[in-house]
Amino acid sequence: MLSTKSFPVIEATLPIIAERISSITPNFYNRLFAAHPELLDGIFSRSNQKNGTQQQALAGSIAVFATYLVKHPGVTPETMLARVAHKHTSLGVVEEQYPIVYKHLFDAIAEDLGDALTPEIAEAWTEVYWLMAHALIKIEKGLYAQQANAEIYTPWKLVERTETGVDSVSFSFEPADDTPATVAKPGQFVSVRMPMADGVRQVRQYTLSSDIEQANRRTITVKLDVNGEFSPVIHNDLKLGDVLELSNPYGDLVIDEEGAPLVIATAGIGCTPSAAALQTLAARGSNRKVTVLHADQEVGAWPLREQMLDSIAKLPQATLGTWFERGELPEELNAKAGYMNLTDALAEDAEVYLCGPLPFMHAARSQALEAGIPAERIHYEVFGTDVWLAA
Ligand code: HEM
Repeated sequence: MLSTKSFPVIEATLPIIAERISSITPNFYNRLFAAHPELLDGIFSRSNQKNGTQQQALAGSIAVFATYLVKHPGVTPETMLARVAHKHTSLGVVEEQYPIVYKHLFDAIAEDLGDALTPEIAEAWTEVYWLMAHALIKIEKGLYAQQANAEIYTPWKLVERTETGVDSVSFSFEPADDTPATVAKPGQFVSVRMPMADGVRQVRQYTLSSDIEQANRRTITVKLDVNGEFSPVIHNDLKLGDVLELSNPYGDLVIDEEGAPLVIATAGIGCTPSAAALQTLAARGSNRKVTVLHADQEVGAWPLREQMLDSIAKLPQATLGTWFERGELPEELNAKAGYMNLTDALAEDAEVYLCGPLPFMHAARSQALEAGIPAERIHYEVFGTDVWLAA
C-alpha cells in the first residue's frame, strides 16, 4: 500500500509520468548499459533494444503498478507481477540488481523532468519503485526455491531435431552434466542462451512443446524468423551433439487436467503451449472437456500437427476446429476457410487460453469478451515481451 503522503502525489503525477515513459525509457537503457555493459551479454535481448515499443515494458509496468496502487488500493496486479517474475527468474535476475535499475531509471526520470521533478515527487515514485521491486523480489525468491537446483543455466546437449510445419523445427535436449533437473509443467518455458556470431550471448524464451514431464529432456519448437537474430542461429548452426545453456522451467500459464471446459485457441507457432498441454493431459488420462482451435496459413504450415492430433485422439472429451487462409480444408480437421471465429466454441463457463501473434489475440480476446467470458477467465501468452502489460 502507498503511504498517505505519497498517494496524492502519485495520483497527480501519473499522467505526466505515463506520458513521458517513451522518452524516459531510451535514456534509462542508455545509462544502464553504459554503466553495466555486461547486462547486454546474456541478459537483455539486443533485438528488443532495437524495438522501441518493447523497450518500454519495464518502465511502463511501473506506471501500470502505480495506477493499481491509486485505483485499487490494497490489491496488487498479480498477473502482471507473476509474468514479470517468471521472466526475470528465467533470466537469473537477482535482488542485488534492483538498486542498479533504480539508479539509472531515476537518473533518466530526473533528466527528463528537469525542475518539474521536486524532491516530493521523486520520493513518492521511489516508494512505488520499491513496493514493486520488493513484490517481485519476493515472488522471484519463491520461484528460485522451487527448482531442483540453484543454477540459472545448465548445459544441455542437442539429441534430436525434427522439422515440423513450415520453417519450424523441434529441438530436443538432454542434460550435459549431472545437475538435477526440475520437472516442468505444461505451458512453461525455458530461457535458451547461446553466443551469436560476434561472441555476444543472447537469450530467448521458448515454450516447452513436448516431453514436459520428463525432467531429463527438454523439447522446444522454434519458428525461423529470417530477419531475427536468434532463430537463424539455432536453425542453421546448431548441430546434433552441440551443447547450449538452458534455464530451469518457468511460467505460470499452466493448464491442469481437471476443471472448467477448456478452450485453447492458437495461431501459427502459438500452438506450442497447447501441444504441450494436450500431450500432458492425454498422458494423465484427463477427462477434461477441451476445445482445441487452431488457425494457420495452410494445413501443412501447422507446426506439431501430428503430435496435437495424436493427443486429441487420446482425450475422450476433446474436439477440434481449424481455420486456414488458403489450400485444402480437410473435413477430419473440421476446417474452415479464413480467420478463426471463437464464438461458437464458447460455453459460458469456459476457461480460455490464447496464444499467437498480437493481432490474432486481440481479435480472439474481443470475441471471447463479447461472448460473455469474464476477463479473468481469458488467459494469454505473448511471444517475447508482453506489450499488453504496459498498455
Ligand atoms: C523484462 C519490469 C527490474 C532485467 C521485464 C519486463 C517487465 C519488467 C515488465 C517485460 C516482461 C515481459 O517480457 O513480458 C521490471 C520492473 C523492475 C525490473 C518493474 C523493477 C521494479 C529488473 C532488474 C533487472 C531486470 C533489476 C536486472 C538487471 C530484465 C530483463 C528483461 C526484463 C533482462 C527481459 C528484457 C529483454 O530480454 O529485453 N522487466 N523489471 N529487470 N527485465 Fe525487468
